[in-house]
Amino acid sequence: MKTKTIGTRWLYLCVSIIGLMLSLNTQAARPGGEIGADWGDPDGEECIDCHMTENPGLHKEWNDSQHGQNGVNCLDCHKAEKGDKDAFEHKDALISIIVTPKDCAKCHKTEFEEMDGSHHAKAGEILASLDNLLGEVVGGPAAVNAGCRQCHGAEIEIGEDGRPTPGSWPNTGIGRINPDGSKGSCTACHGRHAFSRAQARTPDTCGKCHVGPDHPQIEVYNESKHGIIYRANVDKMNMGSDKWVAGIDYSAAPTCATCHMSASPDQPKTHNVGERISWTLRPPISKKINLIKLENGDEFDVPEGQPIPKVGEAAKGSKVVKVLTWKDRRAKMEGVCYACHEKSVVDGHYAQFDGVVHLYNEKFAKPIAAIMSELKASGYISKAPFDDKIEWVWWEIWHHEGRRARHGASMSGPDYTWWHGIYEVAKHTYFEFIPELKDAVRKKDGNEDFANAMLDKHFKPHAGHDWFFNGMSKEAIDKVRKGFEDRYGKDSLK
Ligand code: HEC
Ligand code: HEC
Ligand code: HEC
Ligand code: HEC
Ligand code: HEC
Ligand code: HEC
Ligand code: HEC
Ligand code: HEC
Repeated sequence: MKTKTIGTRWLYLCVSIIGLMLSLNTQAARPGGEIGADWGDPDGEECIDCHMTENPGLHKEWNDSQHGQNGVNCLDCHKAEKGDKDAFEHKDALISIIVTPKDCAKCHKTEFEEMDGSHHAKAGEILASLDNLLGEVVGGPAAVNAGCRQCHGAEIEIGEDGRPTPGSWPNTGIGRINPDGSKGSCTACHGRHAFSRAQARTPDTCGKCHVGPDHPQIEVYNESKHGIIYRANVDKMNMGSDKWVAGIDYSAAPTCATCHMSASPDQPKTHNVGERISWTLRPPISKKINLIKLENGDEFDVPEGQPIPKVGEAAKGSKVVKVLTWKDRRAKMEGVCYACHEKSVVDGHYAQFDGVVHLYNEKFAKPIAAIMSELKASGYISKAPFDDKIEWVWWEIWHHEGRRARHGASMSGPDYTWWHGIYEVAKHTYFEFIPELKDAVRKKDGNEDFANAMLDKHFKPHAGHDWFFNGMSKEAIDKVRKGFEDRYGKDSLK
């Protein structure tokens, strides 16, 4: 008995030492530099004195922040150089209102580089999308400006006076296009002038944008056990901690940042939110995605099935330096789960999630997408998007309902997977898409032959549609009847 106890203790000690080494390894990265030499511009004192009375709230946020406490002052961030598009003379100093990721990168190079390659930095480039056509033409530019661009990021325009134009700023969209050519905005997540880590770790930070009918990640999270337990235990989450390794510095529940950005025992934190995802759940048909990183800091996704360039090869005007296959990306996410779960929960989660994506893809999305392109090619509907009702039906099926189902399943939100998700997809497939298809065809041909041929070709091969074409099987109905009668008595199923 005695030796066993000592053995266990030794094991525990070893594990602790390894844990400690790992945690030291993932210690918060500090900007290298010192006050007076690398920041703390003496001319910045004047800004502080005057703005303390001009905007006491702004001053207090800054003063209480790590920047304030470490002597990083107004001028360290707002100082501009002669020739900067957005520079203007202000109380004897050349400053700019806009503080870009490149400005932050003077002291936080790693965060800048990680974010710069990611989808977040590119989110302002939405011009060539169906969403944008919908926004600009069907809606109107003012709504795109105060809507889309507040999430995705505007292109900041600078007026004659060196200040941003009221039409393009304030804007802290995630992929903002800045006057110095850099992309994104750090203050999208780190509210000014506190610029706090703790605040960025909250789910609500991400929920400003990851919300609503077409990407309800915050709603899904709030519904999930993770979200519930997080809210019940916020005070145990150690949110302000310097080092924030899942399972070590906190264990109650993961937030969005935990899974997509923060450190776990097996990996450091990252400002690239795309590294840990294996599917793209955004397009009409989901695909698994491999990530290709280039020497010039850029990166792109290659869908499964397409050739993956190798390390060292030329690609997109640069050279491949790293390839993360969809399996590598998934393994990274699983590494986070393992901080708090064992294999069966993690494997089970992914099996259930993959199942929903396959169901959506195979039963609904692929057949409908194929029919839509045949309808267009054969001239039953116009080539222009959004001028035929059936295009709106399909749009909502994939862009809203189908995404909700996929997002629900990816992050454990059962209501989004079913009632807001596959239920709506099914209802609108059978009782809007199919009738609309027949209508569109009848209008042109006077009969439904082409529509029926389309259904035979694309829908019928999937056994999941049998009930619709051949009626519910007697077995299926009998089973329901028996269940009803067991519960509610004889003849209860009308
Ligand atoms: C998508 C939201 C988001 C954006 C955008 C973002 N951050 Fe962060 N940032 C976070 C989160 C979350 C953390 C906390 C990570 C952790 O758990 O330690 C963080 C932590 C940090 C830290 C603390 C680092 C440490 O080692 O403790 C710095 C510095 C930082 N961010 C700088 C930046 C800069 C600079 C930018 C712009 C280039 C930026 N962030 C953009 C979410 C964001
Ligand atoms: C003597 C008081 C005073 C001093 C010193 C001062 N400011 Fe200001 N600042 C103001 C006032 C008042 C405004 C608003 C009117 C304007 O835009 O000029 C302003 C505006 C600004 C704005 C533009 C805000 C907007 O929304 O248009 C920024 C940024 C700013 N100050 C930063 C600084 C920095 C950085 C310094 C230090 C170099 C500084 N200020 C020094 C009083 C001052
Ligand atoms: C860590 C960098 C940083 C420091 C330090 C800093 N700012 Fe800012 N400031 C920003 C960022 C980022 C914005 C948002 C501008 C944008 O959209 O790019 C901003 C915006 C502003 C604005 C316009 C927004 C508003 O709400 O009116 C003023 C004024 C301003 N800062 C003044 C100050 C003053 C005064 C200080 C010193 C007490 C200071 N800043 C310190 C980064 C900083
Ligand atoms: C001149 C250097 C400098 C610039 C420019 C700068 N920072 Fe910092 N930042 C620091 C220092 C120093 C710290 C404190 C580190 C420490 O705790 O020792 C810090 C800390 C942080 C933290 C952690 C704060 C916390 O409370 O958890 C975040 C987040 C951050 N900076 C974001 C930004 C963003 C975003 C910008 C640009 C808008 C920016 N910084 C610009 C020097 C800078
Ligand atoms: C509430 C914030 C918000 C608004 C408003 C918004 N979006 Fe988005 N959009 C997002 C988020 C978040 C995603 C990513 C969702 C995901 O990954 O599941 C996204 C995804 C997209 C994508 C897909 C990008 C890709 O790489 O596949 C496009 C295109 C797009 N949005 C364009 C628009 C346009 C155009 C508008 C306005 C007509 C708009 N969005 C309005 C937040 C928003
Ligand atoms: C328990 C971990 C976990 C938490 C917490 C979590 N996610 Fe996720 N997230 C995932 C997983 C797993 C996926 C699917 C990854 C894959 O494709 O393999 C995912 C996928 C995503 C995607 C990609 C969607 C697309 O359209 O391709 C976005 C965006 C996202 N999450 C945002 C968020 C936001 C915002 C929150 C908080 C409100 C959040 N996540 C909370 C694990 C998490
Ligand atoms: C200001 C708006 C905004 C905020 C805040 C925001 N995001 Fe996003 N996020 C977006 C948009 C827009 C996209 C889609 C970009 C694209 O593909 O063009 C996106 C994409 C993503 C993706 C998919 C990345 C990929 O490679 O496909 C993930 C994961 C994600 N965000 C997680 C987060 C997390 C976690 C947070 C909070 C810590 C967060 N986001 C905060 C707007 C935002
Ligand atoms: C910081 C710790 C932590 C991390 C990281 C974490 N979880 Fe959880 N997870 C929990 C807690 C706590 C619960 C609630 C346990 C319970 O009561 O069922 C939970 C519950 C779950 C459940 C529901 C189990 C049930 O019985 O209903 C699933 C599924 C799940 N997590 C999957 C994941 C996946 C997948 C990941 C990684 C992408 C992950 N979790 C990451 C802490 C975590």
